[in-house]
Amino acid sequence: MSVSQAEATERATGTEKYVGRAVDRVDGPAKTTGRARFAAEHPYPGLAHAALVHATVARARITAIDTEAARAVPGVIDVLTHENTPPMKPPPKVSFLDLSTLVSGTTVNYLATDEVHWNGQPVAVVVAETPEAARHAASLVRPSYAELPATVDFSAEEPRAVPQKGNLIAEAEADKGDAQAALAAAAHSVDLTFSTPPHNHNAIEPHATTAVWEGDRLTVHEGTQSIAWTRRHLAKRFGVPEQDVRVLSPYVGGGFGGKGSVWAGTLLAVLAARVTNRPVRLALTREGVYHTVGGRTPSTQRVALGADEQGRLTALIHTSVSRVARTGGMPEGITAGSRHLYASPNIHLRQSITRLDLLANTFMRAPGEAIGTFALESAMDELAWETGIDPIELRMRNEPERAPIGGQRFSNRLLREAYAVGAERFGWRERDPRAGAMRDGRWLVGMGVATAYHPQMRFSAHVKVRMSADGQVVVRCGLQEMGMGTATAQAQIAADELGVPLESVRVEIGDSDLPQGPGAGGSNQTASAAAGVIEASAKLKRALLALARRAPGSPLRGRRLEELEARDGGLYHGGRGQTYAEILAAAGRDHVEAESKGNMLGLLVRTMNDRRKWVKAAIGAQFCEVRVDPDTMEVRVSRWLGVFDVGRVINARTAASQLRGGIVMGIGMALSEQTLVDGRSGRIVNPSLAEYHLPVQADIPRIDVHCLDEPDPTTPLGLIGVGEVSITGAAAAVANAVRHATGKRVLDLPITLDKLL
Ligand code: MOS
Repeated sequence: MSVSQAEATERATGTEKYVGRAVDRVDGPAKTTGRARFAAEHPYPGLAHAALVHATVARARITAIDTEAARAVPGVIDVLTHENTPPMKPPPKVSFLDLSTLVSGTTVNYLATDEVHWNGQPVAVVVAETPEAARHAASLVRPSYAELPATVDFSAEEPRAVPQKGNLIAEAEADKGDAQAALAAAAHSVDLTFSTPPHNHNAIEPHATTAVWEGDRLTVHEGTQSIAWTRRHLAKRFGVPEQDVRVLSPYVGGGFGGKGSVWAGTLLAVLAARVTNRPVRLALTREGVYHTVGGRTPSTQRVALGADEQGRLTALIHTSVSRVARTGGMPEGITAGSRHLYASPNIHLRQSITRLDLLANTFMRAPGEAIGTFALESAMDELAWETGIDPIELRMRNEPERAPIGGQRFSNRLLREAYAVGAERFGWRERDPRAGAMRDGRWLVGMGVATAYHPQMRFSAHVKVRMSADGQVVVRCGLQEMGMGTATAQAQIAADELGVPLESVRVEIGDSDLPQGPGAGGSNQTASAAAGVIEASAKLKRALLALARRAPGSPLRGRRLEELEARDGGLYHGGRGQTYAEILAAAGRDHVEAESKGNMLGLLVRTMNDRRKWVKAAIGAQFCEVRVDPDTMEVRVSRWLGVFDVGRVINARTAASQLRGGIVMGIGMALSEQTLVDGRSGRIVNPSLAEYHLPVQADIPRIDVHCLDEPDPTTPLGLIGVGEVSITGAAAAVANAVRHATGKRVLDLPITLDKLL
C-alpha cells in the first residue's frame, strides 16, 4: 500500500525496544502510594467549599428563593443565586470553526437566569468553611417555582422524532439501492425493534474542581479530558485572556466522555471563587454528577435484515431515535457501524432525534456505536437462527471487500483473522448450536459472538522534546491521563525514537501551560500525540546531528541522519558514533529542544481527503459465555474473549486494561445499567451506586483480550486506538449468548431476569 510523504514522516524510525511491551505505568507508584493528587485534593490557605442546590422540577421559573435558613448555618460564607450573582458570559454557540465550542455541556447560563430547564439543574450554590456546612446549608435553600409544561418522557415523545442531518463528525443517513423492496423479497428476513435505556457516568472520581483567582488570573484543578478547551471555555465565560487561565489536570479518575465537556460544577466553582474572593473546592456528590453531567441517550432502533438462501445480505435497514435536550446535547452515531460492517446491495440508514426538557446527553464511551452495535449485532445473530447458519460463518459470508457505503478501501481490517483466532481460543467448535442444549450441572450455558467497531480519529498535538547534557529527555505536551497510561505510552515511543533507556524519559502532561495537546476522546489521544512525539524526536536528532557535524573530530561528521541508528543514548553508524551527552558536551550546550507544532487545519484537510480513500477503524470479535439459572433466570457471564484489530499496540498491559474496561462497561450495559427517569417529573430516581447497578468484581469473570497487533499502514506508528472499540458489540455478545442458552431474544436492555421468565 502506498502512503503519502506526510504519512511516511510519522512512521517510527528507531529500532523498537519499548513499543509493544507490557511496560509498567510510570504513574503507578504515585497512584498506589496516594502521592498523586486529584482535583479535589489540592490544599489552599483559606480554602472554602461549595455545594449545589438542584431544582426539583423539570421546567419552571423561579419565583422566589429563600436562603435565610441556609445563611444561618454556622460556617456559611455566601449563598449564590440568580438574584445576587454577577452573570457569567453566555456559553458560546457550537461552531466547527472553533472545536472548543463543543465542550459547552449545555446552553444554560447558570445563575444568570430564573429559568429551570431540567429536574436537577443547579439553581443556587452555597459556599462555606467546610464541605459539611455547605451541603447541609444547601439542603435548606428553598426555591419556589412557577411550573411550566415540560416534555420528559422519551417513549411518549419518540414517535414524534425528527430526522437528523449528518455533520462533519457524524454521518447520519445513507441510502443504497432499495432496501424496503429487497427486504420484502428476501428468502430470509428478520425485522426487530430494540430499545436501550439512558446511562449515566459513574467514574471512580466524581467530578471536582478547585478554583483559585489571583486578581484576574485563574488557576483551576480539574479532572478533564480536554485541558485546552476547558481553558478556552473558562476564559470566554469569565471574560479574561486565555493566557491568564491555567488548567491543571495531571490525573483524572476516569472520564469515559463524562469529563469531556465543561459542566455546571466547574463553572460554578470558578464563579463562587470569583464572588467570595476565596479559593473554592466543589466536589460533586454522586447524585450531583447525575443531575449536572450528561449521560448516554436512550434509543429505540429498528434493524431489518434480508438475506438470500446462503445468508448473503440483500437488505440492511437500521433506523434509530435518540434524545437530546432543548438546552444542548448531541445526536449520537447510532447507525455508524451499519455503514461499514456488512456488504449489502441495499442499505437504508436513518437517525432521528427528539428534544426533551432533561439534562443534555453527552459523550459516553463509543457514543452511538455502543448501542447501535447492540441492535445490529443482535439482529445478525437472529438472522443466523433464521437461516440456520453459524453466526461466525454468517458474518464471514457478509464481510465486505470495500466500505458498503462510499466504496472506500479499509486501511486495515482483520475481522476474519479476529474471528478465526477467537473461535480457536474460545473453543467455538464445542458449541452445540441448538438453543438450551448446553448445560453445566443445572445451569444453562450459552455462547454468543458479536462484532466490535469504532472509527479512528485524529487531532493535532503540539509536542516539545528536550535532550539535556546529562542524557535526560523531557517530552512536554498538555495531554490528559484518565487511567489509560498516557505518559507511559508516549515515553515508550520517545525512548524508541531517540534510542535512549525508558528510565531517562520524563513525559510532562496535564497542564495548560504545556504545548497544546489533543483532548482525550474518540480514542484519538495516543495516535495523535505519537505523531507529534515522532516528528519532534526526528527534529531533535537532526539538531543534535547538526551540532555533531560542526564539531571537529566527531565520528558523525559528514553523516546524514538517514544513515544513522539512534541507540544506546546516541547516534551511530555501525560501531562509530557519539552519545547525545557527548555531542552536547562537545558543543558546550546545556540542552537542545525541538518541537512539532501540529497543524489542525492541515490535519483536517488530510482527514477529509483520507475519508474519501480509506475507512480507518478499530474492529474486533467479542466472544461471551453465559450461565443462566433455569429457575430464576439469573444471568452470569462466565467467560469472555475479545480479539481486536486496533493497529499497533504501544503497551500490551495498558492496552489490554483499557480493552477489558470497555468490555466490563458493555457487560453492565447488557445486564444491569439503566438510568430511571420519572416520566412525569423528569427526575432521575436512581442517582446512586446503590440503585444504578454497575457490575462489581463478582459479576465479571476473567476477561481474555488478544490484539492482532498489525500496524495500520495509514496512521502514525500504525496506531488506531483502543479506548472505545471494546464496549461495542459487547452487549450484543451477551444477548446472543443468552439467546443460545435460553432460546429467548431480549430486545430491550438491560437483560434483567424478569425479561427471561
Ligand atoms: Mo470518549 S466518549 O470519546 O471520552
